[in-house]
Amino acid sequence: MIKISPSMLAADFTKLGGELADIERAGADMVHLDVMDGVFVTNISFGLPVVAALRNVSTMVFDVHLMIVDPEKYVARFADAGADIITFHYEATKDTAATLKMIRDKGVRAAVSVKPGTPIEEIYPYLDLCDMVLVMTVEPGYGGQELIPETLEKVRKLRAEIIKRGLNLDIQVDGGINDKNAHEAIAAGANILVAGSAVFKAKDRKLAIDALR
Ligand code: DX5
Ligand code: ZN
Repeated sequence: MIKISPSMLAADFTKLGGELADIERAGADMVHLDVMDGVFVTNISFGLPVVAALRNVSTMVFDVHLMIVDPEKYVARFADAGADIITFHYEATKDTAATLKMIRDKGVRAAVSVKPGTPIEEIYPYLDLCDMVLVMTVEPGYGGQELIPETLEKVRKLRAEIIKRGLNLDIQVDGGINDKNAHEAIAAGANILVAGSAVFKAKDRKLAIDALR
């Protein structure tokens, strides 16, 4: 089944709780929370207090995407703040295996992400420790960019590797996903689609989510 994870980065920040309730009503399977530190990426978004505040008003699956340096210093706190899935960047940590284990030890689903320029093969040694892999389809940092088509080749390779090894893990794509390219991402092997602009900027968010699925 294809799951849709709308990114709150494209929501109206003056009413985050209402926006979250709205995408749940519209049929979102989970919600994607983009944490940016101004160091790993140039942009700064929101952090722990916002995740914790939203946790108080929602039972949705919180899919937290950490675009921060030294994620190992923060994963336990994001777990305590209410994350159900924590994704960090392969490029941002000194110890991928230890960070994945730390997340799982907190009872949270663990995921690693690669930027468009990072060969997907580099994370193959860690697949046994992952519940999900996030293949970035844009350079992380900003919403509203266009999908880089070459990144879908990495999704294809990863899906083939997962099948070859008999693993059971999700492949998420994030960045520039819309109703025109969603089928290509799914055909390549992705089963969780993140979408910011395509959901939040749509007139009818339920139709937008259905179209992506
Ligand atoms: C980009 C973020 C994405 C972003 C997606 O760095 O990781 O989650 O919000 O937004 P759209 O779907 O608008 O590209
Ligand atoms: Zn994201």
